[in-house]
Amino acid sequence: MTDILTSSHPEANWWRQAAVYQIYPRSFSDANGDGLGDLPGVTARMGYLSALGIDAIWLSPFYPSALADGGYDVDDYRSVDPRLGSLDDFDAMVAAAHAVNIRVIVDVVPNHSSNRHAWFQEALVSAPGSPARARYHFHDGRGDDGELPPSDWPSHFGGAAWTRVVEAAGPNAGRPGQWYLHLFATEQPDWNWDHPEVREDFHTTLRFWAGRGVDGFRVDVAHALVKDMSMPLRSKPKLEILVDDGTDALFDRDAVHTVFEGWRQVMNEYDPPRIAVAEAWVPFTNRRLKYARPTELGQAFNFDLLQAPFKAAEFRSVVQKCLAEADVSGASSTWVFSNHDVVRHPSRYALPDGSTAKELEAWLLADGATPPTDLERGLRRARAATLFMLGLPGSAYLYQGEELGLFEVADLPHEALTDPTWFRTNHLVKGRDGCRVPLPWDDAEPNNGFGGTPWLPQPAWFAGKAVSAQDGVPGSTLELYRSALDWRRKLQGEETLEWLSEPTDIVTHYRRPNGWEVITNFGGATALLPSGVDLATVVLASSGEPAPAGHVIPGETTFWLAP
Ligand code: NOJ
Repeated sequence: MTDILTSSHPEANWWRQAAVYQIYPRSFSDANGDGLGDLPGVTARMGYLSALGIDAIWLSPFYPSALADGGYDVDDYRSVDPRLGSLDDFDAMVAAAHAVNIRVIVDVVPNHSSNRHAWFQEALVSAPGSPARARYHFHDGRGDDGELPPSDWPSHFGGAAWTRVVEAAGPNAGRPGQWYLHLFATEQPDWNWDHPEVREDFHTTLRFWAGRGVDGFRVDVAHALVKDMSMPLRSKPKLEILVDDGTDALFDRDAVHTVFEGWRQVMNEYDPPRIAVAEAWVPFTNRRLKYARPTELGQAFNFDLLQAPFKAAEFRSVVQKCLAEADVSGASSTWVFSNHDVVRHPSRYALPDGSTAKELEAWLLADGATPPTDLERGLRRARAATLFMLGLPGSAYLYQGEELGLFEVADLPHEALTDPTWFRTNHLVKGRDGCRVPLPWDDAEPNNGFGGTPWLPQPAWFAGKAVSAQDGVPGSTLELYRSALDWRRKLQGEETLEWLSEPTDIVTHYRRPNGWEVITNFGGATALLPSGVDLATVVLASSGEPAPAGHVIPGETTFWLAP
């Protein structure tokens, strides 16, 4: 058996400093013209992805699904949604990716299935207490007639985390009966991870995809699988994790790690061993790093940079903390600014300084109208932040469309919205559709070359952001990403970093072991470059413009210096 740290496979470490490009399949490229992106669409764009210079793609779920939560409600873990293609299409996509040396990561969604999954359907028609119910969390309600949910737990998308079923079998057939747990939408019943069949079935799923050539897995809500379901259920009116000792009722419980140790055994059956990255919104680094240990998944997302204000001191301290975390876990660090769950980072940075998460939500709810944004500044900062991040040791996770400098589509027509959050909060929280609008490829074609009429409408300004409008255009965001990913490959070395210059509130300056230096001016005004910096060695500026004369760096700009 191999091991991710000791495998002698020449490519065993491909993931440690990879640039991973997240594809949200329904919104990437639509080959069959039905308005929904698909797997042949991904295959058709492999040349684009290869030229972009990424090392891997991570596909959000493409499995059969009613799309109650954008595919994170999985009907069948070992199949492809017929609207997105077939298993043959999947194999063709993997082959095309591997042919250009791009690795493939797929999403695994182990906290919940969809309510259309065969085992949940079986549970629904089975009586309370039956073996079929035991694979999920079915409980009697409280109150005289069981009319109250078993606990006060809320769901992530609004509303209660419990839904009552009408019994189909047993003495109460035809009447309201038990409740099932769903930490997300009603259509996403949570698995019972204490059940051996559930554990075994996920091993089968991992082997199914690994056997088809998949190189890694992104593990959805990894920290939620194991819950304290002992009676009486504990009160937890908010879903935050307040303790860092593994005793929270719902999240980051110590026992979750035995699940991932089992996964590691399975992933080590392959050579090179398969890699996995945990999506674990665990606020404590000492706890988060456990998921990333080589005996478990191998990597864990950290969203610290994503959540940090655009400030030198904050960015620097996040990096220090995350690199220290990686040192302990043995993993490489991960970095991310955007994904399919958050407002795109050029828009976040366009909001007034100091805007809180609540204010960001309010801005979305106001369709992006108030407070006013400074989009030019937002994109300038986003480009500077991206170059700051791409220089760091570890893996960079990029989200489709960020290489085009896409903003959030904050003003989607309300009738077009699909996010369960929008519905479950009675339209009080907008949700995530605005970062999921299908990509613009060619402004000369209908639907900007995406394919059929996109399932979420593209705004008029998408045409100006299309690949065709940026391809070969010096200074465009697309060309900046291409150059950056190219230089990153050439300059990358050991996974360490040395901070240069005294820390200031304005400028950060670090050097990688092979002499690659990254200087970022987080301030709005031009700043003096640290002394000793040779301007002639600047190979890339986030502005896309040549470095100006004088020993200065413009505001909200990153320079890359090559030895
Ligand atoms: C995290 C995923 O990224 C998100 O899109 C999804 O809604 C939840 N997990 C539930 O699966």
